[in-house]
Amino acid sequence: MSRQHIRLGVNVLASGRHDAAWKTFEEKRHLSTDIDHFIAIAKSAERGLVDAIFLADNPGGLVSEAYTRPWRALDPAVLVANLAAHTEHIGLVCTTTTLFGHPYTIARQIASIDHVSRGRAAWNIITSQNPPALDAYGAEKGWDQAERYKRAEEFVQIVTAFWDSLPEEALVADPDNTVYLDPSRLRRLDYKGTHFSARGASSVPETPQGRPVIFQAGQSSDSRAFGARYADALFTGQRIIEGARAFYSEVKTLAKSFGRDPDHLLVMPGLFPILASTEEEAKRHKRSLDDRLDSVALREELARHMAVDVSLLSDLDAPIPFAESEANEALVPIASRWHRAEMLKEARQNGWNIRELLFSNITGGHRVFVGTPDGFAEDMLHWIDTKGADGFNLNIDVQPTGLDLIADEVIPVLQKLGRYRRAYNGRTLRDNLGLPRFDAKPRHGLAAAV
Ligand SMILES: Cc1cc2nc3c(=O)[nH]c(=O)nc-3n(C[C@H](O)[C@H](O)[C@H](O)COP(=O)(O)O)c2cc1C
Repeated sequence: MSRQHIRLGVNVLASGRHDAAWKTFEEKRHLSTDIDHFIAIAKSAERGLVDAIFLADNPGGLVSEAYTRPWRALDPAVLVANLAAHTEHIGLVCTTTTLFGHPYTIARQIASIDHVSRGRAAWNIITSQNPPALDAYGAEKGWDQAERYKRAEEFVQIVTAFWDSLPEEALVADPDNTVYLDPSRLRRLDYKGTHFSARGASSVPETPQGRPVIFQAGQSSDSRAFGARYADALFTGQRIIEGARAFYSEVKTLAKSFGRDPDHLLVMPGLFPILASTEEEAKRHKRSLDDRLDSVALREELARHMAVDVSLLSDLDAPIPFAESEANEALVPIASRWHRAEMLKEARQNGWNIRELLFSNITGGHRVFVGTPDGFAEDMLHWIDTKGADGFNLNIDVQPTGLDLIADEVIPVLQKLGRYRRAYNGRTLRDNLGLPRFDAKPRHGLAAAV
């Protein structure tokens, strides 16, 4: 049996992943922006020796989620830069899209976070386009699937070329000759693509990790090919183990085909634990949160995900209208197709009715585990040991209290089994994830770089 250590991230969401979490807080109005709250979450995750906190994001504009719960309001780069000052070891993953803005802005921002955090930064690439983002950036229309990935490819090539453009050896700081930076040692780029152009060198020198870690979040075959080529870790959304194993094996094979060591491409599905000391108690806890949801609004949300009329979901004890949803697949917005596919696969496998599907984290999209800390540790190890995942991105019901349970009850179980660190062993996020420091040999063959 493999004895691989589990990698763990924590998906930071104001108040928690459960959509009713915010209703349990005394001060409710400023949960999306309260920095003390985010600091408490980061500190609790660090106490649990978690690899990284993960700031997902909506690329622009106010999303409809905001009408019913605290949402992702703050710029994730600003937020993680602040959290870096309140933590010492934990990785800081910042999500930004490759569709809007210019790659240099992101290259500089993420490299700066790597410096100020002394090597704990990661960039999570998303390729999303939702109507609020298109509106906020003044785009008349979105990009089709092939264009989205072509654009993403140019974007990441420019970002990584800028990261490599000012290597450590260019910093000579020679006072006798008044040479601070040796221009002959810069790796300037001169890139002209279909979507983006960029020239020159970054203002930010080579970072403590060589390059910040690259995460990527997606699901389609284009996304898998892109991630296997450019990412160090994939944030994914599999809800059933058979699908996870197929995904895992495919992306590791793809990484090999790009000349990479497949162990240096980590696969981390999202996972949503709801825990208590007994299974019954955990179920009761989930029910007490579920009971605070607005089931009418939730049904409308499910209807949107399934692209069916909400009237088809009015009897909660009825079977799920799979056929009607499948017929309308093309109407589902691109950004939530993975949600829909995974939810429906899990529902079909478990023979769920509409009610069971409705309360299975349809807004967050990730698999829910309800049970005890021991059972949860066992569940995660089963996925790791049967090659369905290298780790998980945890979605916590209520933060930071749910996260304290991870630190105090789950991590010790994994430690006893020899499957989790007892202290942060490395200096950088790459060290802690078991990824090598990036040596600035151009990996992606940036054709236009000089
Ligand atoms: C696990 C996971 C996490 C994602 N996180 C975000 C996110 O934080 N913000 C966002 O706008 N889109 C997010 N996406 C959407 C993707 O960036 C992408 O738009 C979507 O998966 C559809 O395209 P694809 O399947 O070709 O990747 C996520 C997707 C997955 C699978």
